[in-house]
Order: sequence, then structure tokens, then C-alpha cells
Amino acid sequence: MSKRILGGLGLLLGAGLYAGNALAVEPGDPERGQAAAATCTACHQANGSGMNVPKGESWPRLAGLDAGYIEKQLHDFKAGRRQNASMMPFANMLNEQQIADVAAYYSQMPVTPAGGGESASEAELTRGEQLANRGDWDQYIVSCKSCHGPGGTGVGSDFPGIASQHAGYIRTQLHAWKNDERSNDPQNLMGAIAKRMSDDDIEAVAAWYASQTVSAEGEE
Ligand code: HEC
Ligand code: HEC
Repeated sequence: MSKRILGGLGLLLGAGLYAGNALAVEPGDPERGQAAAATCTACHQANGSGMNVPKGESWPRLAGLDAGYIEKQLHDFKAGRRQNASMMPFANMLNEQQIADVAAYYSQMPVTPAGGGESASEAELTRGEQLANRGDWDQYIVSCKSCHGPGGTGVGSDFPGIASQHAGYIRTQLHAWKNDERSNDPQNLMGAIAKRMSDDDIEAVAAWYASQTVSAEGEE
């Protein structure tokens, strides 16, 4: 056999193994997900709303996030690609099937309102809206909307919805990227953007997205 044919066989075998693995996990089931999520409610709440914690660590809203995005984040916590002391033990408790199930469970919940935008000034919200929808070419900041979608409601599994997400959570994530503490995004798209943002810009855009409401059909 020529090397090329062997190479082709290797690819086929590889593809077969991959399909075999995928078959072992059934599509996520929201009912099983609810059972697997029993321990999650302490922080993410029974309705998936999470909580903005002004002086502490905010718990992100999971309700209405894309299932594929939730799965990716749980795999990343489990593998240590994304690090957080509060969250990692809980990701470690889930097997592959439970990850698919909790993702299905939270993704079908309606988006809940977010906290942390209430005390923002008019000027801050105006600046936040500018960064979100138009970016700032003087600082080479692309609009958030160009990836996170119009209204910030997310695009597919790669670009999560950030509208109606807690300001405290958005802020910590932007600082984490800025300080190279979060890097589970293969192309480091967020790292490049966060490093160009001042702390004031981070506050402004976090407050603006937190104060956006999302209609029932707004996120998938
Ligand atoms: C002790 C509190 C706590 C518990 C319990 C908890 N989490 Fe979390 N979770 C967090 C925190 C804090 C973060 C944000 C981590 C960070 O800043 O990177 C988070 C982040 C996440 C994310 C990423 C969200 C995003 O938008 O990127 C997912 C998904 C998630 N948790 C799912 C779960 C699931 C499923 C469970 C239950 C099996 C669970 N969590 C239990 C605190 C908790
Ligand atoms: C070039 C594309 C791109 C642009 C522009 C962009 N993002 Fe992102 N963003 C991403 C990707 C990709 C992820 C998911 C990272 C991952 O997979 O962990 C993300 C994730 C996030 C998250 C984490 C959400 C969560 O639930 O964990 C926040 C917060 C965020 N972006 C805020 C912003 C803000 C604010 C802006 C504008 C200043 C912005 N992004 C602009 C690509 C982009």
C-alpha cells in the first residue's frame, strides 16, 4: 500500500473512532439535566439567573445561553483550560453525559434580567453603548456586536450572548482576559480586545450590557 492510501485509512479510522465517541453520549436531555444541576442552584439559582454580587464573585446567568457554549465551558473547566476555584470542583463532578444534559437544561430556560447596571451614569451608558455597537477605532476596539450579534444576544455556540448578563461577571471576565488569566478561547479574540480597554471602558460596557433586556425569542 502506498503511503497516501495508508494516510487515508488512518483518517477514516480516526473519523470512525471519533463517531464512536460521539455515539457514547446521547443528545442532552433537559429532564436529566435538571437532576444533574441540583448542586448548581446554590450559585446559579433554580431559574438559572445567577447573581450579581457587587463586592464579591458574581455568578453568571446560564439561563438561555447556547447549549454548545455551555458544554464548551464545562469541558474547559474540567480540563483546566479555564480556571476558577469556585467553579472547577463542580465541573469535575459531571461526566460527559451530564455535561450535555445540564447544557440542554439551562439553554431552554428564558433569559433572566441582570444586575449591576442600575447605578451607572448616563455618560457611562453612552460610552458602553458606543463600544458595544460601534467600537472605538482610535483604540482599535472592534464593536462587541460584530461577534456577539446585534443586541448582544449571541451567535451560535462560539459567540455567547452577553446582553442581560451580570455586570460583575462581564467585568471579571474582561479583566481576566486583560491579565492573561482566561485564555480558553483558541484564537484569543477576547484577549486582544480586552487588552485595549481601559478599566473605565470595561465598567461602561459591562453596565450597558447588564442593563439590556432580552425578549423570550432573543437568545436560543
Ligand atoms: C460555588 C458557586 C458555584 C456553583 C455551585 C456552580 N458554579 Fe458554575 N460558575 C461559578 C462561577 C463563580 C463562575 C464564573 C467563573 C469565572 O469567573 O471564570 C461559573 C461559571 C459557570 C459556567 C460558565 C458560564 C459562562 O457564561 O461562561 C458554566 C457553564 C457553569 N458555571 C455551570 C455550572 C454547573 C452546570 C454547575 C453545577 C454542576 C455549576 N456551574 C455550579 C460558580 C458556581
Ligand atoms: C472578534 C470577535 C469578538 C469580539 C469583537 C468581542 N468578543 Fe467577546 N467573545 C468572543 C468569543 C469567541 C468568546 C467566547 C470565548 C470562549 O469560547 O471561551 C467571547 C466571550 C465573551 C464574554 C464571556 C461570556 C461568557 O458568558 O462567558 C464576554 C463577557 C465578552 N466576550 C465580552 C465582550 C465585549 C464587552 C466585547 C466588546 C468590547 C466583545 N466581547 C467583543 C469574541 C468576541
